[in-house]
Amino acid sequence: MKISLESALADACKQILDVDTLVRVVLSGRRRNMVTEFERIDIRPVHIKGEILLQIGHSDGRATTVKNLAPQSDVIQKLLESGFANILVEQVSGSMSIRITKNADAQVHYEKKTLEQNLTHDKKKSRLLDPSDPFLQEVGIADHKGVIKPSKQDKYLQVEEFLRLLVPTLKAAMEAGQIRTPTELDPLLIVDLGCGHAYLTFAAHQYLKAIGIPIKVTGIDVRTASRDRNNEIAQRLGITATIDFRAEEIAATTTQQADVAIALHACDTATDDAIAWAVNGGAKLLLIAPCCHHDIQSQMIESPEPWGALTKYGLMKERLGDLLTDSLRAQILRIAGYRVEIIEFIAGEHTPRNLMIRAVKTEASADSLDIARYRELCSQWKIKPVLEDKLPTLFIG
Ligand SMILES: C[S@@+](CC[C@H](N)C(=O)[O-])C[C@H]1O[C@@H](n2cnc3c(N)ncnc32)[C@H](O)[C@@H]1O
Repeated sequence: MKISLESALADACKQILDVDTLVRVVLSGRRRNMVTEFERIDIRPVHIKGEILLQIGHSDGRATTVKNLAPQSDVIQKLLESGFANILVEQVSGSMSIRITKNADAQVHYEKKTLEQNLTHDKKKSRLLDPSDPFLQEVGIADHKGVIKPSKQDKYLQVEEFLRLLVPTLKAAMEAGQIRTPTELDPLLIVDLGCGHAYLTFAAHQYLKAIGIPIKVTGIDVRTASRDRNNEIAQRLGITATIDFRAEEIAATTTQQADVAIALHACDTATDDAIAWAVNGGAKLLLIAPCCHHDIQSQMIESPEPWGALTKYGLMKERLGDLLTDSLRAQILRIAGYRVEIIEFIAGEHTPRNLMIRAVKTEASADSLDIARYRELCSQWKIKPVLEDKLPTLFIG
């Protein structure tokens, strides 16, 4: 339906202000020769302290900032005229969509459907880590006002998503008796290997304590500067009884064992050191998000055919090398008696290194098919993962 732009926007504004029936609004795309301050705006009604406000989310493509405002026609009119080419207004009884053409005409489409309002306030409650928690300021993720620094948004989300997987996996493993139930006297031992600035180490410590799981956390990193900085932060937070940091090579750490081993982007074969240390020490749960991969890639000199069709392209060879590396790591863990999953722990836009190996120790003994597949893969590619050398007893017999 073609109506004047002015009437279309007036109708949209009227519908948006009818907060008793409004479901949501999306403003996106850019009108010809116009610049929008944000990539997209989402609006929805929310119930706060007895009144219905409009929650307006401005997204710049990376982060979304949210404001709750009283429904006012001048504010809404201004947003509708701010340069977006697509306007979608959904109400409980149907939707209205406006497409503003290059000639500033409005193509309007009305559709009848039944939708539900959700007036619950804010998605903030789904965050595990409160941005104003002092530890986030101490480690440098949040500023002094408790706001996540733009440069640390990705790291904050990586840590959050990592915890989002750690916690249910841990609880499920405890319920299934695969991990012992810890007590204050005998807390769960968690070791973060290649902890760097310890964003994850502190986050795991703070979050697990907050949900009542007794823990003792250790962060290991080869850099003495990291150890000193992290121990100083622990001191300022008053938590040195349950967290400590060591400047050691993973392969030579004085830490004896862990119930749970975690590693977020430990460089190259440091990830293999982390896996080997955890397996040798009998860790029950491993959550490992690998980083760069060079070991297998440097060994992929001859491709078994017909894989040459991929490896003749440098980029494909590199990606295949990454996949082979992590598949072989997973296979070794299976042979060591772990139940293994490989998952994406966070969307790729926050880190290209978004794969995680999650492994839970079981009573199962090595399956001969797993061993045969591992051997065949290595033999076809004429490769030997560095992890195999670090776990020699696994391959005897
Ligand atoms: C990419 S950073 C990741 C740091 C942290 N896990 C994070 O996600 O912010 C990798 C860290 O691993 C440490 N590292 C690399 N190889 C190591 C090794 N063999 N032993 C101990 N630490 C190592 C580095 O010093 C560095 O701090």
